[in-house]
Amino acid sequence: MNSPDMSRLLAQAAQKLAAGGLVAFPTETVYGLGGDAENPEAIAAIYAAKGRPANHPVIVHVAPEADLTYWAASIPAEARALIQAFWPGPLTLILPRASHIPAAVSGGQSSVGLRCPSHPVAQTLLREFARLKPSGQGGVAAPSANKFGQVSPTQAAHVRAEFPELGEDRLMVLEGGPSNVGIESTIVDVSRLDDGIGPVLLRPGHITAEQLADVLGKPPARPDATAPRVSGSLKAHYAPHTPLRLVTRAQVLAMARGELMPSRAENRRVVALVFEAPPDASASYIDWRVCSCDPALFARDLYAVLRALDAQDYNCIYIEQPPGTEAWRAVNDRIGRAAAAFG
Ligand code: TXA
Ligand code: MG
Repeated sequence: MNSPDMSRLLAQAAQKLAAGGLVAFPTETVYGLGGDAENPEAIAAIYAAKGRPANHPVIVHVAPEADLTYWAASIPAEARALIQAFWPGPLTLILPRASHIPAAVSGGQSSVGLRCPSHPVAQTLLREFARLKPSGQGGVAAPSANKFGQVSPTQAAHVRAEFPELGEDRLMVLEGGPSNVGIESTIVDVSRLDDGIGPVLLRPGHITAEQLADVLGKPPARPDATAPRVSGSLKAHYAPHTPLRLVTRAQVLAMARGELMPSRAENRRVVALVFEAPPDASASYIDWRVCSCDPALFARDLYAVLRALDAQDYNCIYIEQPPGTEAWRAVNDRIGRAAAAFG
């Protein structure tokens, strides 16, 4: 990270952002596809690369010392408390957008999503970029660095695989090792408190509703009909190419005995991610893969495992349904959406 090579690359990457270019960078959650948050053409280039509808807002990433009043029209006490508790880290706050910040970054909405990542490469990039701006304030707009609807990348190699059409000249990819959290940030909407709405938990993540409640003094509300659009809230999202199905433990055991495979002809080779290998695993067409019973470790590895399995010729990926507890809420959210993509 402190090597002369990395410093040079980060300086180059900051220059590239300042010139309106795209830079993919590591964060502790997933890799982001970044562009200058104040440059609508850079935002348009992000949307084009992702194949994402232009009315979807993107998160603005800022360095720890950023002046948040540059980005947000107001910062309610609830937001300050959450920032104090969880930044830098995997929490995004939706705040009222300052009027001089282009609406392109929030898909035309009057809010702005802000996040201060803890990953050292992301932080150095954000600092270097801010130094190049006349205002001294720089924000990097970055959705996850994947094509729309696909699994988020947690390694630099995933990003390169996702955008084969963009050479190094059009997309610079910074290497930062595997992301530790592995799933996208928790998103809390604090932009509508003046209307008596919120804080609202828009997307569950590594920071749980319980942890938010400890700081807020009350649990965050669930999204209502007027909640801002969150693309990750589309029912079918985060999906691999291989069909994915969730199964109960009882179904896992039945599968292991060679039962419960309704259309064996088309399910010739399947893989099952389970919490414990079944005692009688006689069905030869199933590859078993034991995953962590710790939700944080499960989340850390989930997307990399899905990508690796996608690269093999499985007819289906089965995942044993984790417990329905708060600790598993973010994981259940992501795998539930992935399974929903296949009906
Ligand atoms: O962990 C993360 O959040 C990663 C890393 C790169 O920071 N980013 C990420 O970005 O997951 P993306 O675009 O894939 O998802 C961001 C979500 C979207 O669902 C978007 O709708 C929501 O944040 N969002 C961003 N700004 C918003 C705003 N102003 N109002 C409502 N939702 C917003
Ligand atoms: Mg995404």
